[in-house]
Amino acid sequence: MSETRKLYVRSFGCQMNVYDAQRMTDTLAKEGYVETDSPDDADLVILNTCHIREKAAEKVYSELGRLKKAQEEAGRQQMVAVAGCVAQAEGAEILKRARGVDLVVGPQSYHKLPELVADAQRRGGNRRAGIVETEFPVEDKFDFLPPPTRAAINKRGPAAFVTVQEGCDKFCTFCVVPYTRGAEVSRPLPKILDEVIRLAEAGVREVTLIGQNVNAYHGLDAAGRSANLPELIRRIADVPGIARVRYTTSHPRDMDDELIGLHRDLPALMPYLHLPVQSGSNRILAAMNRKHDRELFFEIVDKVRAVRPDIAFSSDFIVGFPGETDADFADTMDLVQRVGFASAFSFKYSSRPGTPAAGMDGQVPEEEKSARIHALQALLDSQRLAFDTACQGRVLDILIEKPGRFPGQLIGRSPYLQSIVVDGPVEAIGTLARVEVHGVSTRNLSGDIRGGEFFVERPARESRFIGQSEKLEA
Ligand code: 5AD
Ligand code: SF4
Repeated sequence: MSETRKLYVRSFGCQMNVYDAQRMTDTLAKEGYVETDSPDDADLVILNTCHIREKAAEKVYSELGRLKKAQEEAGRQQMVAVAGCVAQAEGAEILKRARGVDLVVGPQSYHKLPELVADAQRRGGNRRAGIVETEFPVEDKFDFLPPPTRAAINKRGPAAFVTVQEGCDKFCTFCVVPYTRGAEVSRPLPKILDEVIRLAEAGVREVTLIGQNVNAYHGLDAAGRSANLPELIRRIADVPGIARVRYTTSHPRDMDDELIGLHRDLPALMPYLHLPVQSGSNRILAAMNRKHDRELFFEIVDKVRAVRPDIAFSSDFIVGFPGETDADFADTMDLVQRVGFASAFSFKYSSRPGTPAAGMDGQVPEEEKSARIHALQALLDSQRLAFDTACQGRVLDILIEKPGRFPGQLIGRSPYLQSIVVDGPVEAIGTLARVEVHGVSTRNLSGDIRGGEFFVERPARESRFIGQSEKLEA
């Protein structure tokens, strides 16, 4: 291993970028790079970028400007790399637009980082000759990205993301993902399982399977047959130590009865479903090329609620898509009223270069988009508060993830992904606790621990976090 150098990675955007940042860190750890929390003392800074909306993409350039200024003020030499979806979409443009970038690397080439970084180093700060690597290589990057070390897993806590599928073939007319992440590709089931076993052995208790179209998962199993998401989830829930499984993000079109049935049959599968609908208007859904209508969405919601009455729904919404009228927006509000969401993300439509919607007639004025997003968010916020308030007095199982803001406080996640603050010892991090919820605020819930570590029948083989049969006192 070469001399120790410091690495700072900043991620923007989705959970896949969080996962990718970890894998980049793992790759560079083998080259002697140690993670630092501050860009100021880093030898290499990686901005892991998001291209989904214009605002997110523009952040990269302001961040690059800030970095450059800080470097100049401190008289510091740092290598700067731009990774993620802006790197993929804008490639060499980034070198032209921003001073001080040494390397641009797209999401499918992260396994090549050591060689790219070494190459950039050899060029010795000649930034006009910055390197751009945005090919979609023939080899599978996951075959070359090293697994995280035990120390890295411990640092990241007891809830982990695992990418199982990447890319998208749906081509919604507003979305850049099919261009930045490429065609849908599923990782083979045995490789995912190996990764989860490794995580569980280091104390991970909850795994969220991620993919842009995760419920379209179709990876090969050990016998070379195609396995679907329900099969993958069942296998992962069987891994000793894994107590909870989640998956995100799903497309309504791929929400089949087998997956819905799993929400009834598998207690480890959390009762929370993030299912983007984008709009409640069939006219707009068709223009978005969503391949589903509002009726299909209602049908899925009804089916899931029938098998798992306590399920919480979450969704993504876009307001102000080209051609959206007041009546279309009223349909979205109506859909929200009918379904009732525990949480949701909503965005103003942002025109993205190269997508079909960017060229559509009827672009909606900014003021209109603002008025609609305010109305929608007010409704969604009130639904979230109603959901949280209904949890008051209930007993929920939480996975304790990290210390709270004040000494003696801990923060855990409920099955519905709510953040719950409890009092307890730091040794409880990484354990499951049964909690009675008593307080609700806009940011989180609070509760009292009634019992802990009750999944003793399937303990982690080895856990850093707590003795396997240790009980937490109420
Ligand atoms: N404008 C606004 N929101 C968008 N999203 C994707 N593309 C756009 C866009 N061009 C939203 C969708 C998607 C989420 C990840 O981001 O709601 O589900
Ligand atoms: Fe984008 Fe649509 Fe694919 Fe989701 S399903 S990633 S919104 S193209």
